[in-house]
Amino acid sequence: MATHVVSRIELPGIPVRRGKVRDVFDFGDRLLLVATDRISAFDWILPTPIPDKGRLLTAISAFWFERVGIPHHLLDLDPRVLPLPAGFDPAPLLGRSMVVRKTTVVPIECVARGYLVGSGWKDYRATGKVCGLPLPAGLQECGQLPEVLFTPATKAESGHDENISFEQMCQAVPQELASRLRELTISLYQRAADYARGRGIIIADTKFEFGQAGGELYLIDEALTPDSSRFWPADAYQPGRAQPSFDKQFVRDWLESTTWDKNSPPPELPADIVERTRQKYAEAYERLTGRPWS
Ligand SMILES: Nc1ncnc2c1ncn2[C@@H]1O[C@H](COP(=O)(O)OP(=O)(O)OP(=O)(O)O)[C@@H](O)[C@H]1O
Ligand SMILES: [Mg+2]
Repeated sequence: MATHVVSRIELPGIPVRRGKVRDVFDFGDRLLLVATDRISAFDWILPTPIPDKGRLLTAISAFWFERVGIPHHLLDLDPRVLPLPAGFDPAPLLGRSMVVRKTTVVPIECVARGYLVGSGWKDYRATGKVCGLPLPAGLQECGQLPEVLFTPATKAESGHDENISFEQMCQAVPQELASRLRELTISLYQRAADYARGRGIIIADTKFEFGQAGGELYLIDEALTPDSSRFWPADAYQPGRAQPSFDKQFVRDWLESTTWDKNSPPPELPADIVERTRQKYAEAYERLTGRPWS
């Protein structure tokens, strides 16, 4: 199969919404989720795509969907099951597409945290709690939490998602649903993190989305990828400091080494940073699945 580097997909006549990484096409009761090779860092989409990234992210999500053991939205990995526009060449879509059941999205980002990092670490240092959940004193940056926390956030249309308490979540969705989402989020994270740990990857935290259709609850969006989670290489793990990111570290380090001010469009990435980053995504896939990436 010829490999395409894809920054953007156009499907004439099909309504689209573009996220930072994915282009989402609306086919009525189904959506086509296309993971492009775009990469973001410091909240900017970088001008340079990472070859294979979209196909790797799709393969990682698909790997997990097959294993979650709960209803999920993935219907097919072949976009050709959809009525694509006449004459459209589907080749650029292959390997990076998920045909999914369209759902009504539950307006909450369901976050599970196993380690104290990011906004959780900030919150803990300021208040001794994470999202209102009290924790013992003396925990370290990036230290493992005594138990997995569920820390919901609102899905902001633009800008940053805002952490909310479980009680606030219960004002946005029925309490019974909130409790179910909390349970599912913690148990999915726990199982995935245990599995990944045995393969040399720490999943420090992750974000799930859920949707409803025909009275059923489905796991939707992407699942347990380096874009929706923090992956750390287990062999370099050391609490008490920031951890290298599995996938984006080269990109972040390189951007920090330039004069870029993070307030204007970012520069093109050099070829060796692109290649090393591609290799990290491939390594995440290979470690998790045990399959070679070809
Ligand atoms: N099965 C589904 N039914 C309905 N909406 C879905 C489904 N799966 C995913 N979505 C939605 O599709 C969108 C995927 O877009 P994407 O993640 O690329 O962009 P985003 O979340 O708006 O921005 P970001 O780039 O910051 O993630 C999300 O809004 C997600 O909630
Ligand atoms: Mg998203």
